[in-house]
Amino acid sequence: MNFEQKLSETIDLLKKIAAEYQPAVFANSFGAEDMVITDLIAKHGLNIKSFSLDTGRLPAETYDLMQKVEETYTTHPVQVFFPNTAATEAWVKENGINGFYNSVEQRKACCGIRKMEPLRRALTGQKAWITGLRREQSPTRKDLGYQEFDKDNGLEKFNPLIEWTEKEVWAYIKENNVPYNALHDKFYPSIGCAPCTRSIAMGEDIRAGRWWWENPENKECGLHVKKI
Ligand code: ADX
Ligand code: SF4
Repeated sequence: MNFEQKLSETIDLLKKIAAEYQPAVFANSFGAEDMVITDLIAKHGLNIKSFSLDTGRLPAETYDLMQKVEETYTTHPVQVFFPNTAATEAWVKENGINGFYNSVEQRKACCGIRKMEPLRRALTGQKAWITGLRREQSPTRKDLGYQEFDKDNGLEKFNPLIEWTEKEVWAYIKENNVPYNALHDKFYPSIGCAPCTRSIAMGEDIRAGRWWWENPENKECGLHVKKI
């Protein structure tokens, strides 16, 4: 399938979600893939709302982009969800502000409070959610499809860019003049929280900079992990 066909199928899928799964929301982390989806939703005037999980530990460049998106895509504002204050304060008191470096358990607990619980709130009452996941990103994502029922959250989940390559994502961004995170130009292909993301070296895996001190099999924060 050439890129034009792939793009047209992606647009058709987004239109189908907007028509058949109301209300539908798009989970926007402001990464390159999510900027493609942001642009497509706005350009085609789709009735899909967007939200972002602000963990409180995002890089300054992500906040700059958030602001830019607010100014650029005025028809489609992004709703920001924050972690529960009491739970965050209790965790920091118990583990220290950067306690997530100490063990995988502590890291997952921090992601639980700063991302998972706000995600559950963001998805409440929704019929479907949309992500920017791509199969190529990680071995943990190689079996994903365009659509699956997200049992844990109780709604349909769509991954419209699942088959896009990194090159195609960047071709779309450049051709359409889509704003993107300045960190992408500094060897950060995948961006999460500032203390848990580093740049990668030539030839390294695109997610090598995420939770780089952990083994590759642990490298998911839980947003896309199915409970068994
Ligand atoms: S993560 O699970 O490792 O953090 P990744 O950064 O690859 O995920 O992003 C994959 C998809 O998850 C994004 O395209 C987006 O749909 C969703 N996502 C990740 N982080 C956030 C966030 N902070 N807010 C909203 N959506 C997010
Ligand atoms: Fe906490 Fe790091 Fe997870 Fe962000 S990525 S929620 S700082 S452990």
